[in-house]
Amino acid sequence: MKKIVISADITECSKAELEEDDRRLVQSAEDFFDHAYAPYSKFKVSAAALLDNGFIINGTNQENAASPSGTCAERTTVFYANSMYPANKVTTLAISAWYDGQIVKNPITPCGSCRQVLLETERRYGSPIRIILAGRDKCLIVNSVSDILPLNFDSSFFD
Ligand code: THU
Repeated sequence: MKKIVISADITECSKAELEEDDRRLVQSAEDFFDHAYAPYSKFKVSAAALLDNGFIINGTNQENAASPSGTCAERTTVFYANSMYPANKVTTLAISAWYDGQIVKNPITPCGSCRQVLLETERRYGSPIRIILAGRDKCLIVNSVSDILPLNFDSSFFD
């Protein structure tokens, strides 16, 4: 019997400490809170994806009265990016949320379904996606989706 320890490489920093491109991407996410459709939770989530051609794609959560039919900001964004620009990989994804009149204090982390979708996107394009989880001031940066989805399931199990 042996014990396996899984660790993740996560950087914590303030918004002021972000590199210029990262700060711009977070700002871009924050510019789109009002595009969220969140009449039920009132929790507005916005993501901004930087593509390898320099384009920024924005997406927000889109809710539905039949709640499982809505979708999170992260999936809206990567599906939109991959639909519009299938030849261009997402290199960085910034995620931020707004609740009760302000940006949420702690960096918001993607739900399990979004992590699974982000993982497949990363593997599909053969290149890691950096993720910037932005709170009101504190940010967490991970260099690959694998870091936030250990012991993951992917198509390699079909082999
Ligand atoms: N939500 C996201 O869009 N992304 C996340 O990472 C977590 C949750 C959305 C789903 C729902 O519309 C609302 O936030 C409350 O859960």
